Amino acid sequence: MLTIQRNDPCWCGSEKKYKKCHMEKESILLDYQREGFQIPKRKLIKSQQQIEGIRKSGLLAKSIFNMLEGKIVEGVTTNEINHWVHEYTIKHGAIPAPLGYNGYPKSVCTSLNNVICHGIPDETKLKDGDIINIDITTILDGYYADTSRMYTIGSVSEKAKQLVECAKECLEVGIESVKPYKPFNVIGEAIEAHATKKGFSVVRDFGGHGIGIQFHEEPFIHHYNIGNKGMIMLPGMTFTIEPMINEGSYKCKILDDNWTTITVDGGLSAQWEHTILVTETGFELLTD
Ligand code: MF3
Ligand code: CO
Ligand code: CO
Repeated sequence: MLTIQRNDPCWCGSEKKYKKCHMEKESILLDYQREGFQIPKRKLIKSQQQIEGIRKSGLLAKSIFNMLEGKIVEGVTTNEINHWVHEYTIKHGAIPAPLGYNGYPKSVCTSLNNVICHGIPDETKLKDGDIINIDITTILDGYYADTSRMYTIGSVSEKAKQLVECAKECLEVGIESVKPYKPFNVIGEAIEAHATKKGFSVVRDFGGHGIGIQFHEEPFIHHYNIGNKGMIMLPGMTFTIEPMINEGSYKCKILDDNWTTITVDGGLSAQWEHTILVTETGFELLTD
């Protein structure tokens, strides 16, 4: 960080001199570092061109949910959802990121009821009273965007409705806490406080993640309060917030397919996800 000289061109590609660009901001960072916070590596700060690419990918991911509108109803199989997502993504010149990712066999994750995440589409038909998370990740011109949302099928129980709503609010309070130069831990603090207030629990074994150039980049983003200083958020960072909220225990179990993750106690689980950019003043949603 310190090897660059005042009059050198800035490392960020702005074509300005370092002293007119990132120099002052980076000296603020050194103060944070002295206080014990972790400073993100420069490769985690996206260039304008990269941000534009991720933004486009995010718009496409969002448009897939528009395409699905009205289709996620009783009787539909999760394989059909996979087919729709796959075909639409390809038709728009993109690649569904899940397909073949670490051996994952499908183009989307469909997590039903007690499935926390990474549910694999199959011949299961959606039925009245189900809740389902559909998790979409697109690669457009090499740029990744990741977003998921819940659907309720027919008439669902009051408890299920509350859980789905709480998970959505957890994403919202997490997003609202995103501010440059704040520690990432503020996100988990806000989410855990909200979930706990509503009587639900926060999954710990999975979290948000840096995204953009790869599917899962640094840092790992906890959705609960880890109570240490951790990494600082900086303008130009892109990452997901994707709280998984459980009706009962937060504990998870992974099935023999090595993907499908369910609640240990059989309780319901709900999740919503957005890809977020840290700006100079706050945040920008890249998948909304
Ligand atoms: N979309 C998931 C996430 O939010 C990751 C799915 S990995 C897959 O991070 F291989 F299952 F697709
Ligand atoms: Co994600
Ligand atoms: Co996702």
